[in-house]
Parts: sequence; structure tokens; C-alpha cells
Amino acid sequence: MKVNLVNLHTVTSFLYRQATSVESTAKQSHSCMMMSVEVQRYTMLLIVVVVAVVAALVPVASAGQCVDAKPGANFTNERYYGLWYEIGKIQTAGGAFFEKDCVCTNIAIKADPSGNAGDAIVTNSCRKKTPQGQYLNATAKLIQETVPGKWQESFFPFAPTQTYTIIYIGDDYAVEYDCESVFGLLNYCIHILSRKPTQDPDLTKKLLQGSLDMGLNSEELEYVQTLQEGCW
Ligand SMILES: *[C@@H]1O[C@H](CO)[C@@H](O)[C@H](O)[C@H]1NC(C)=O
Ligand SMILES: *[C@@H]1O[C@H](CO)[C@@H](O)[C@H](O)[C@H]1NC(C)=O
Repeated sequence: MKVNLVNLHTVTSFLYRQATSVESTAKQSHSCMMMSVEVQRYTMLLIVVVVAVVAALVPVASAGQCVDAKPGANFTNERYYGLWYEIGKIQTAGGAFFEKDCVCTNIAIKADPSGNAGDAIVTNSCRKKTPQGQYLNATAKLIQETVPGKWQESFFPFAPTQTYTIIYIGDDYAVEYDCESVFGLLNYCIHILSRKPTQDPDLTKKLLQGSLDMGLNSEELEYVQTLQEGCW
């Protein structure tokens, strides 16, 4: 059962603030007020508990979950190594912390010989807003490859990781899906990749449709093409 922990947290912290503000008001008032303030306080705390229990039991249909996507049939790590250009993406707002202003986006993948078998290093690189903008680079690690093509992506040590799956791969195209769900908050990206800065629009459409058919775009977000013209 899914539980809306975000709402639960918001509601309980609101009520807790109410309860504690009653308490601090009490400290400033006359002691003869204390009795009724104590009663109010316990009433508030009782409401907090009741609301918390009810909220915890109400399943929330709209809160999304990551899809346990299967890696592409042809996947091998070696096929994925090298440079890819981002043709376009579907991305939740929270998933875009690195990519928000990006144009000319590309990623370079290589094995990480200092890590465990299957570990890889991803260098994300783009230009800020225009093809002449400053470089925005971010390096991540792909770790814990459970099956070929499915890792955890880690941007910072000890920070939460995303599941990172290559759902399609061919000689000159790939589709990467990453996703995390923290306290019921869903963040995901679908990246359409190409070995060249361009891609046959029919292929892009096919790859996108395939991703939608897997149910990866649960929030029904728009596909956004990445500017690659004038970059190279
Ligand atoms: C696997 O690779 C071959 C050769 O590149 C390609 O023709 C085929 O479409 C690929 N299959 C899938 C499922 O990606
Ligand atoms: C960012 O990455 C690009 C491509 O890998 C590289 O050419 C550039 O020097 C890097 N810039 C910075 C500031 O790291």
C-alpha cells in the first residue's frame, strides 16, 4: 500500500506547530490560564495522532512509483560506453537540478576500473542556455549493476541514488530511464540518446512511444527536444 508521506508530514508538522504555539502563548499568560491551555494542548496532540493514523492508512492513488524497467535486449556495457548526444527528454522538475539550463547536452560513459565489476563513470556536459554559454559539467557514478544495463546512479557519496536503466540500445541510439521515489515524491527522466547530435525523427518517435508503453511517463509530462544545433 502506498502512503502519502509528504502530506502526512505537512499535516502533522502544521498541527504540531499549532500545538506548540498554544504552549508558548500559555507561558506568557497568567497561571490561572494554564489549566485550559493544558487541555487545549492535549486536544491538539490528540488530533495530531488521529490525523497521522488516518493519513497513514489512506492510500494515495496519484503518488507515482518508479517502474522496474527491463534493460534493452541488446545491452552490453561495452555498447553503452563512449559519447552520446541527448536528442530530447521527459523530465520531472525535481529531476532537472543539473540540466535545467542545458543546451548541447552530451554524456560520456566509461568503465570505472577503481570500482566494482560493472561500475562506470558518467560525465554529463552541457552549455548554459546558449551554445556559447559556460560549461555545466556533472560527474556521476553508476554502481551496483544488478543485471547488465541496470545500475544505481550516484552524484554525491551518501546522497540517495537513482535507479538508472538503459531500456533500449542499438548501434547509434539508446534510451536511458532514471528514477527515484523519496517519501512518495517521484522524480524521473527519460533521455533519448544518439551517437550523433541528430536523430531520424521516426526513430525518436518510436523510442518515445516504446517508453510511454512501458508506463515510464506516469505524470504525462511533455517531451522536450534538446538544442543541438549550432553546438558542434
Ligand atoms: C539489437 O541490435 C541489432 C543490431 O544493431 C538491431 O538491429 C536490433 O534492432 C537491436 N534490437 C533491439 C531490441 O534493440
Ligand atoms: C566540461 O566537459 C567538456 C566535455 O567533456 C570539456 O570539454 C570541458 O572542458 C569541461 N569543462 C569544465 C569546466 O569542466
